[in-house]
Amino acid sequence: MTGSNSLRVSPIGDFSAELTVPGDKSISHRSAIIAGLSNGACHIRNYLPSEDCLNTLRAMESLGVNCDYLETNEHGPIEVIVHGRGMQLVPPSGPIDCGNSGTGMRLLAGVLAGQEFGCTLTGDESLSSRPMGRIMRPLERMGARIEGMGMNEGCAPLVFHGGLLEPIHYVMPMASAQVKSAILLAGLFAKGRTTVEQPAETRDHTERMLARFRVRTVRNGNEITIYGGQVPEAIDIDVPGDISSAAFWIVAAAAKRNSKLLIRNVGLNPTRTALLNVLLRMGARIKDTIRTSGEKEEPSGNLEVGGGTLSGTEIREDEIPNLIDEIPVLAVAGALAGGTMTIRNAAELRVKETDRIRAVVDNLRAMGADVTEHDDGMSVIGGNRLRGATLDCSGDHRIAMAFAIAGLFAEGETVIQNTKCIATSYPGFEGDLKRICDKQK
Ligand code: S3P
Repeated sequence: MTGSNSLRVSPIGDFSAELTVPGDKSISHRSAIIAGLSNGACHIRNYLPSEDCLNTLRAMESLGVNCDYLETNEHGPIEVIVHGRGMQLVPPSGPIDCGNSGTGMRLLAGVLAGQEFGCTLTGDESLSSRPMGRIMRPLERMGARIEGMGMNEGCAPLVFHGGLLEPIHYVMPMASAQVKSAILLAGLFAKGRTTVEQPAETRDHTERMLARFRVRTVRNGNEITIYGGQVPEAIDIDVPGDISSAAFWIVAAAAKRNSKLLIRNVGLNPTRTALLNVLLRMGARIKDTIRTSGEKEEPSGNLEVGGGTLSGTEIREDEIPNLIDEIPVLAVAGALAGGTMTIRNAAELRVKETDRIRAVVDNLRAMGADVTEHDDGMSVIGGNRLRGATLDCSGDHRIAMAFAIAGLFAEGETVIQNTKCIATSYPGFEGDLKRICDKQK
């Protein structure tokens, strides 16, 4: 199954397995940033040691935040004490590299917009082609001075010239948790009330975490207001497992008729669980047991998944922001189901780590599936037996992992090339894949 920079996957039968997945990526980024701004030592457990989250941790260190690495696994630190600087960051000695991470760059931009000092954020080739105008526009309205130095307008490297921020009321043109979070973090550095209005519900990890750090925010429908000038009060954080990583195994178990899967301690925040609702509609058997439930807490618990005979469904517009990262693997589920799965209103997928609509359509077709591409999504007509193929994942971690799952259901061997990118969100994926394969009945 292993290759140096490729994954070879063979078909498997029904399996029965138990698994935990690494820490949540969105929550890990936020924990490093908000803890670093807080007024003391924050003990973070189950931090995600992926490239993306390590870059964010290093970014905070380069801004003067000290970190003690209490426990490190083969991929990186998983238990860290972050010593917050009470909102007083220091100029970094050079550009800050966000690697492949849109979340890292956009959230850090919110923090850097309001500093007295200048600073530059850089990223890899994929990140340098992704739209940053969506955060530059509101931050500039607040008074930030930011230059996009990339090849295309509004693209990284982003140069911040420092400045004083004014609060704003911003109506977001797109449903994006990253944009919302950038504005809320910048709002912490502005005097007065900053309000951001989202067109639809997006993941609410920033709001929940700020509330846990006793930062006053007010939610009124889809409007969130933050009061500037507050210093987050240090707390400890337990990061639950990432449901977006669990999604790969959930789909695998749901589509293998007599399979059973138990995933322990996974995040079950309702702004992230639309995937489960869609799979239930498709005929999967899924039971969740939420163990934490306070309003500010991140809900988490166990998930039990049983295979069924899946049938296609239409993914509703309001579900899209809450399963945007799961669409590649959901499209694979569509190819394995009877009938048609329709995904529309998902044009955002074209500006992720790669154009995910293109990449999914191309790879599903290479495996023999019947797919129609739309500007804003795709229709997958299930039922064709998938064939193993040699696939390119376009340097995109979620495409690589989604097609590893497709390979479990295909005839013959599937080879996914250039899979190093998996480390951006799920170090250990290959090991977990092997574990699942070893648990065939
Ligand atoms: C994220 C938000 C989502 C998601 C990304 C992580 C976050 O992007 O795709 O992987 O942590 O805020 P949007 O900003 O488009 O919501």
